[in-house]
This record gives sequence, C-alpha cells and structure tokens, in this order.
Amino acid sequence: HITHRKDYQPPAWLVPDAALTFDLGAKRTKVSARLNVVRGAGPRGPLILNAEALELLSVSVGGRKLSADDYSYADDRLTLVIEGDEAVVETEVRIAPDRNTQLMGLYASGGILCTQCEAEGFRRITPFPDRPDILSRYTVTLRADRTDYPVLLSNGDPGELRDLGDGRHEIMWTDPHPKPCYLFAAVAGKLAALKDSFTTMSGRIVALGIWVRPGDEPRCQHAMRALKDSMAWDERTYGREYDLDVFNIVAVDDFNFGAMENKGLNIFNSKYVLADRETATDTDFDNIAAIVAHEYFHNWTGNRITCRDWFQLSLKEGLTVFRDQSFSADHGSAAVKRIQDVRTLRIAQFAEDAGPLAHSIRPDSYQEISNFYTSTIYNKGAEVIRMMATLAGAERYRAGTDLYFERHDGEAATCEDWISAIEDGAALDLSQFRRWYTQAGTPTVNATLTHDADARTATLTLSQDLPNVPNAGGRKPMHIPLKTALFGRESGARLGKERLIELKDAAVQIDFGGIEETPILSINRAFSAPVSVKATRAPGELAFLSAHDDDPFARYEAMQELMSDWLVKRARGEGEDAAAIIDAVTRTLDDQSLDDAFRAEAILTPADTLIVDRIGTDVSPRAVVQARRTLRKTMLSGAGHERLMRIIESGRGGSFDLSPEAKGKRRLRAVALGLLFADPGEEAIAAAAALYDKADNMTDRMAAMTALAGSDTAERVRVLADFHARFRSDANVIDKWFTVQAMAETGDPLATTQHLMAHEDYSASNPNRFRALIGGFAANMPGFHAEGGAGYRFLADQILTVDRINPQTAARFVAPLGRWRRFRQDDAAAMRAELQRMLDAPGLSKDVREMAEKSLA
Ligand code: ARG
Ligand code: ZN
Repeated sequence: HITHRKDYQPPAWLVPDAALTFDLGAKRTKVSARLNVVRGAGPRGPLILNAEALELLSVSVGGRKLSADDYSYADDRLTLVIEGDEAVVETEVRIAPDRNTQLMGLYASGGILCTQCEAEGFRRITPFPDRPDILSRYTVTLRADRTDYPVLLSNGDPGELRDLGDGRHEIMWTDPHPKPCYLFAAVAGKLAALKDSFTTMSGRIVALGIWVRPGDEPRCQHAMRALKDSMAWDERTYGREYDLDVFNIVAVDDFNFGAMENKGLNIFNSKYVLADRETATDTDFDNIAAIVAHEYFHNWTGNRITCRDWFQLSLKEGLTVFRDQSFSADHGSAAVKRIQDVRTLRIAQFAEDAGPLAHSIRPDSYQEISNFYTSTIYNKGAEVIRMMATLAGAERYRAGTDLYFERHDGEAATCEDWISAIEDGAALDLSQFRRWYTQAGTPTVNATLTHDADARTATLTLSQDLPNVPNAGGRKPMHIPLKTALFGRESGARLGKERLIELKDAAVQIDFGGIEETPILSINRAFSAPVSVKATRAPGELAFLSAHDDDPFARYEAMQELMSDWLVKRARGEGEDAAAIIDAVTRTLDDQSLDDAFRAEAILTPADTLIVDRIGTDVSPRAVVQARRTLRKTMLSGAGHERLMRIIESGRGGSFDLSPEAKGKRRLRAVALGLLFADPGEEAIAAAAALYDKADNMTDRMAAMTALAGSDTAERVRVLADFHARFRSDANVIDKWFTVQAMAETGDPLATTQHLMAHEDYSASNPNRFRALIGGFAANMPGFHAEGGAGYRFLADQILTVDRINPQTAARFVAPLGRWRRFRQDDAAAMRAELQRMLDAPGLSKDVREMAEKSLA
C-alpha cells in the first residue's frame, strides 16, 4: 500500500479529549480509553480507529456496550458508525508489553515499561485515529504494583500518587496542551532521578528530572547541564519559553533510535543520557548535549506546532536539527561543528540522494513511514533551513520565525506554512527556493574562474546541474546561496569582501573588479549550500587555500579536496605524487595558530564511501581501501613519527575537563595515533598501550584501543580483554567493544564478527547491540566488501534475523546493499542477489520489503 501526499483529506472525526486508564503489568496491561469525538472538516463517514496488535475487550458508544455485529475490526482498523455529530466512545483492550519486540507502542526494557509512539505506535496501545492532525487534551491514569513500578510518569502535570490498598497505587497526569497522539508517553518502573529546576524568562519555575536506574543519577549531570542550557538558549535565540511546570527525561536501554520528544516526558536511548569521563568519549558528551537540545527544541518546533501529515516531517525535523546544530555551534567550536555536520551530511545524505532511495525533503509518497526518518529529511532538511537563514540574515530570519510561531502555534502545519511565514516575516522571495522541497538529488555547481590581468577583472562562470535520480520531482534550476571570496596568489590576502552569490539560473557569469594579481577561488564557504562544487583548481591552488583561506570550513575543504582527488586517481590506478598533500598536512600540523580540533579534522582522510561516490561507477572497493592505506602511509612518512609522537604526548596528564581546548587536544591525539598506526612500529604500539593503561578518560582509552584493535599484536588481545573485564556491567560501553572489533581491518573481519555473535553478551534483540556489531561490520569496507560476497550474504542473514523481531531496525541496514550500482560487476551482482534473496524470504516485513524493492529497482 502506497500513501500519497496529494491524497490528504482533513479528518472525518476529531478527538478533543482523551482519557486513558492503564492497569499496568509487563505480561498484561489493560488500557481503557474514553474519547470525546466530534465530526471534523473531512468527508462525512464512519469513525475509523487504528488498532494494531490489540486484544479488543469491549467497545461502547454513548455508554452503551456494542455487540460484535455493531462494529467491524479488520485489517488493523476498528470501524464504528456513529449517528449525529458527536459521541463518547469507550474501548478496553489488552496488550502484552513483554512480548513487544518491535519496541513500538508499550514495551518492556529491563524492568521498565515505556512507550514509543512516533510515527504510528499509538495504535498499538489503544484504538485511535492515529494521525498527527488530530490534537487532543489527555488525562492519563496509571495504576501499577507499588514495588515493581514505584515511579509512574506521563505527559503534562502530575496529580497525587494514591495508594490503592491492594499493593498497587495510581496517579493521574493531565496535559493541558492539545497534542497529536504520537507525542503521548507513559513510563513505569524502578527509577531514580537527578533533579534540578529552571526558571523561565517569565518566571515559571520548572521542575526538571532525569530518570534512570537507581545509582546512575550522578551520570546525568552532563545531560542536565545541556537541558538547562537548551532552555536558556531557546529563550535567547528564538524567544521560546517552556510551557509546563515539569519536564522529565527517562533513559531506557532498548530503543529504536536516539530519543523522542514526547510532551513534557522525553524518552531517551540511555546511550544519549548517561556519561562520565570513565565511560563516555568526548563525542558521546557532544552527542548527548545535541540530542537533549534537539528533543527539548521540539517542544516548539514539533509539539506546539506539529505536522499536518507525515509528508511534512521535515517541517519539524529539519528545523529542529538546524536548531540543535546552532546550539552546539554556540557552545563549542563553531567551525569544527560545521565540519562535522557537513561530513555527516556527505556520508549519509549525499549517498542517499544519489541512490535508489533518493527523495526530496518533502516526499510525495511512502509505503512505510518509519523508513522516511532519513538523513534527507533530517540533515538536508536542516541545510535547507540554514540556507533560508543565510539568505535572510540573522535579524530577518528571527522575524520570520517569530511570525511562524505567532501564526501557527497550536496547529498541525505544513512545510508551505513555514515557507510563507519566513517569506512574509523575513521579506524574502522564496518562490524559486521552494524547489528545494520538491526536487531530489544533490545539485552540482560547476565553477571556473578566469583573470584578465590587463582589465584587472576576474570572471567567475557558474552553472548548475540537477542529477537524474529516482523521484527527482523535476530538474529545474535551484536557488543556491554561495558564499564566495577570492584570494591573491602572491599576497596571500583576501581580495575584497566575501560575497553571497545567489545562483538562480542554469548558468551565469559574475565579474569581480580591481583584481590585480592572480586570484584563487574560495566558494561555498561555510558550506552555504548543500551542493557538490566542481571547481577547476590545481593541487597548488588547493594547497594555497589550505594554508591561507580565512574561512575555516573552506580551509578544511581545500585539504579534503586535495586528498579526495589523489585517492580517486589512485583507486583508478593512475599514480600521482602526494607532495602537495604532505606539504599541506605538515604545515597544518605545525601551524600553532590553528586550534587542535580543527587540525585534527583537517588532516583526516576522507571516508572511503565518499571516494566511492566520487568515482561513481565500476568501483573496486578493495582498490579504494588500498588507495586510502597508501595515502595514510605516505602521510605518515611525510609527517614523521616524531612529530606525531610529540602530539600524542602533549598535554597528557593534566586534569580532565570538557573545554573545547581539552577536547581538541584529545581529538588531535587520537587522529595522530591513528595515522601512526598506518604503519605501526614497536614505538607506536608501546605508545598506544601506555595511552590505554594510563588513560583517565574514555576518549583516550578508546583511541588507544581502536588503534590497537586494528593491529596484529599481543597488545591487541590484552587490551581488548582488559576492556571487557573493566566495563562488563555497562552495556553502553560494551557496545563500543563490539564496534571497535567489528570495524577493525586486521585479520578476517567477517570471522571476527561471527565469532563475536557467539559471545554471551551479544543479542540481536537489543537495537544498540545489533547496531554496534552488525552496523560496525557493515561499515568495515574490506570486511563487508570482501571478494566473493560473503560480507553481503552475512548482512542479509542478519537483517532477516532481526526482521522477525524488530522490522524497523532491520530496515535501517538495507541501504549498504542498495549501493550496488557504484561497484564493479561481480560485487554488484552479489549485492543484488542478496537483496533478491531477502525479497524471496517468507514473512518479510513491509519495512524491509520497501527498502529492498526500491534498492533493486
Ligand atoms: N522524533 C524523534 C526525533 O527526531 C525520532 C522519532 C523516530 N521515529 C521513527 N519511527 N523512526 O527526535
Ligand atoms: Zn527530531
């Protein structure tokens, strides 16, 4: 079944009020619902309630119990014919949380009962018209055993906890804000909270709680700090204030993705809450802050203003990602944050946009909505918002968002509503810009710069190409904001100011006057548009920019460009000397004016998958790996052991903190160690072992273990065993242990991974563990792409196994096989065969089916 955006109809029935009562138990939970329903603006018809995996106990309308002939319950829909324009509908159902392995609806994680409803999980809790444009006021009564479930949480504000005298207790939560059912949440369990409070700009005192397993409260400090920072940042930056007296976060170990923005009760994957220096890397700390901020920001962009239908998903996700990126940039190194965000975009989204699963940020159709929580909706969506902010400038962008909140607060809105509000509020003409919402595929911008020395002018010729991808949605010229500057070859200085060029035509020429010396082009500075730029720049010019550009992103980009060009040639069997790269790398490493985190990012070699994409077709994955290894060895001998050893030793042993400077030092140390292991001698191995043993934090420890795990040494064995013994009781840390080994390129990665599957700590039913091991392997280029296709077969087997337990998680792993078009014939055929084998498997979920079918098409 395919759902189309153009078929949207307003609902036939609305549910202004919903009262739910839960008699909770892991084996059996009874859910009683009392819904006030009234006719909506949609076509007149029966009341259709979605109902999935529910045991229906009773249905009544207007207080009268219906017999089975009075309603129909088939194909996951409960259909009731209602006379008149309003009614009270009551249902009772039974569910089994402990058998809910999909982790959608109400399920058990450890001893905790919790919910996940977005996108369509609420229908697995109670019969309901499960669509985001139906907003209801909820009152929720939770009843449960006092010993097993001492803490009972839901959305909104709590009433009194009442003892029921029979070993159970109950509480009623009231949420005054009408909300779509995907934002419903309930949690019950033995939980303890780190508590704090925040006073909003108008003086509301908000009680904050982060709920975790008793004993873990101290590990919530970082998340709490991030929450309070987010609340203050949203007031300052967007004028948005929190709107309830309580805000709770709960951490659970079994969760299909990162976290969920349920109103007043965010539920998190524990991986994105718990942290201390012994168990969390700096990246973990950063991810925690970013995700806490993301979910908190959804309170306005998602909850107060929600989505009319799931085609509008990027309305809340793209905007909220842009907001969390801005938050992180304001709380650390903005340049490094931008570099990391662009790297993620290119690896995940550019690949998606060039492949069989390409779609615009506002797709036209879907089969399974959970397959559309994609990098395109999230990350490209964020880039589209960023471009609007760039075009408007900070002040006018704020006027636009103010108008958006004013116009649409309390509504289920569309992307079009957002665009119009920005147009009106920021005084922008976005008529052509709207194509970013309908056209898929990454545009290419071709740029050539010429110089007329006599006339002292430079001419920049720009053209744009739209790729021919599935669901392209048209290929008309886009409105592309390109921050551009010129630098003087001789002076090394910038020639004039940075310009914001708005490329709107298929091709255009732009003149720069007063250019006396040979100019070098710096374009798409700060990555102002999510495009690929093809500029004809010689290695010498790129090396120049890597040393002189005053935009840190552009400087980084020049280094990446230099390395990518070399890797592409090398993988194609064309040799080129790496002198310009070695020169740029050593210069960057020695440039004390650059901060450490930036230097680390700049000298990282581009991801293999980016090189695969650049080559485009008929790629030998083994040749790409070989090229990368050769380049890294060359860089190592160019930079020299001594220089790298100095970096590894520098700044060690001081006291631990999370300042950008301290994080930068650790990052550069890890990158330097990684480079040293391109060809590890005894000295390097001893250095890594010492770093591991003496580490007082997980960042250094992981850097050392990662390096050693990729080497064929006795230290590898010792350190891996030590790590497991040290952290065996901490699931999130043990995930790292699985990932490091699955990604290690030494020996036979497939055999290593298969061996780890037999480990007593492995479990395919926990999404974090599955992602850690199987996701790690799928990212292991030489392992996954081993000659003969054994890696492909293995991944398909694992997808099929997990599909029986958790289709949503299984479907996330199909994409690597969908990349077959890039590879040479033998590899491509083997990948296709596995996609076909999955499609032929009996009982395949619609989640995996959609992904596999589209991947083959
Ligand atoms: N809204 C959540 C977030 O972005 C993610 C929900 C993901 N849902 C899904 N079905 N994949 O924070
Ligand atoms: Zn989100």
